Amino acid sequence: MSDETFYITTPIYYVNDLPHLGHAYSTVIADVIARWHRLHGRDVFFLTGTDEHGDKNARQAEAEGKTPQEYVDGIVPRWKELWKRLEISNDDFIRTTEDRHKRQVVPFVKRLEDAGDIYLDTYEGWYCVKCEEFKSDDELIDGNCREHPQTPVERVKEDNYFFRLSKYNDALLDLYMNDPDFLRPQRAYNEMLSLLRQGLQDQPITRPSVKWGVASAWDPDHVIYIWIEALQNYITAIGFADDPERFASIWPADVHLIGKEIVRHHAVVWPALLMSAAVALPKRIFAHGHLLAGGERISKSGRKIIDISPYELIDIYGVDGYRFHFVRSVSFGDDGNFSLEEMQARYNAELANDLGNLASRTTAMIDRYFDGVVPDAEVSEAPEEALRKTITSAGPAADDLMKELKVTEAVAEVWEIVRHANRYLVEREPWKLARDEANRPLVAGVLHVATEALATLAGLLSPVMPIAMRDLWTRIGYEGEPRSKAPSPAGNRVRSGDALFPRLEA
Ligand code: MSP
Repeated sequence: MSDETFYITTPIYYVNDLPHLGHAYSTVIADVIARWHRLHGRDVFFLTGTDEHGDKNARQAEAEGKTPQEYVDGIVPRWKELWKRLEISNDDFIRTTEDRHKRQVVPFVKRLEDAGDIYLDTYEGWYCVKCEEFKSDDELIDGNCREHPQTPVERVKEDNYFFRLSKYNDALLDLYMNDPDFLRPQRAYNEMLSLLRQGLQDQPITRPSVKWGVASAWDPDHVIYIWIEALQNYITAIGFADDPERFASIWPADVHLIGKEIVRHHAVVWPALLMSAAVALPKRIFAHGHLLAGGERISKSGRKIIDISPYELIDIYGVDGYRFHFVRSVSFGDDGNFSLEEMQARYNAELANDLGNLASRTTAMIDRYFDGVVPDAEVSEAPEEALRKTITSAGPAADDLMKELKVTEAVAEVWEIVRHANRYLVEREPWKLARDEANRPLVAGVLHVATEALATLAGLLSPVMPIAMRDLWTRIGYEGEPRSKAPSPAGNRVRSGDALFPRLEA
């Protein structure tokens, strides 16, 4: 983790795809990580944005009788709206059609040229306009791209400027051998290592036939290939050429969070470009799995088109229920299947029952037995000690896991507090103890410790469920924003009443 700023990025999304569950998945996870580090007092910079150049947008704009810029300007708000709705706390949103991006791409690519890494040659082969990628014969299935079987690949023969990717083959192998954490998880690392061992080929870095893009400095008839240009968003957003001082204070990125299908661009091409331009490498790339529906990857133009929009799920489960589901249901890193039935079941079991009931029971008993004021802890027996141990150890353990990007495990660690606290209340049965006035100190102790559990949960789950946990935090009598370590709740006035997570019928 960088000393100054924890810099985390999502990929910039192809602007013409309507944001779907898959995109929202990666953005929500990135947001949970960013919020976790802010909660722990770390300086965070969280970047997302849109990838707006390339053939497919130019073609679509023409079909709609618009200029490419008018066309992309019309759809960017849809992305921003969804991120706002999902409480995504990005610090910046970069669009590749912004001047600040375009003007800084040029000097970066110039460095590659100065390093002698660019030459003119002819490319002949396939191009998938949906992926905006050159494809080799063995990447095709039945003559079509794997991701977009509906869209035929195009045969292109063009004079292109090439980047000497092969020159960096050995340096990349050294990087992989010396720093296995550079690329996680292991599956992605192994895949890229074997690619490096097979040997890399130089790759086109410009396209002569495309007009919608950033012109190369040395030949205005060639625009920079969209993937090469797009990767630079990670540095142009923080002032690579415009503001070197700011750039130095944020770069290198602590983590580029990406989906596994774009790992080669990020973990092979991007570091090679940075080496050529003499810029430090990102510290880590993490390639997560895909959200599937019925076993197929969810996407707009590919094999599995799912017609549930994020908005529909948010309307049912709320923003917090939505975010919670995707963090809990998919083991971060692996592929995970989305099902509405599972989402409904998890919401009712874990949020309405486990966490929701813990909160409502505890606050209702404080209301009934202590006039709504959290009592001081007047007891220190084994069950209380055990619960307190779970409460105090969950945060540091989860923090260690989160630093390793083990997001699902980190949240599971925090969830242990919910399970333990519920078990504890069932064992202690404070509602029965309260029948005898002699037990009052014990009941006070039980409700105090249960409130400590809720306070810690409100803090540690706030990166996942920012709205509901702020609500819980105030229900147990605190002000402001939830904190990773809550002060003692003794004397707090609780607010009981409506359910934190109302139970949903099918
Ligand atoms: N524009 C490029 C990225 C350039 S970054 C310099 C791109 N865009 S994308 O919109 O197609 O994908 C963006 C991200 O969304 C990728 O990380 C991709 O893995 C993620 N997802 C798209 N569909 C997904 C799922 N079904 N599941 C999980 N993530 C998914 O590639």
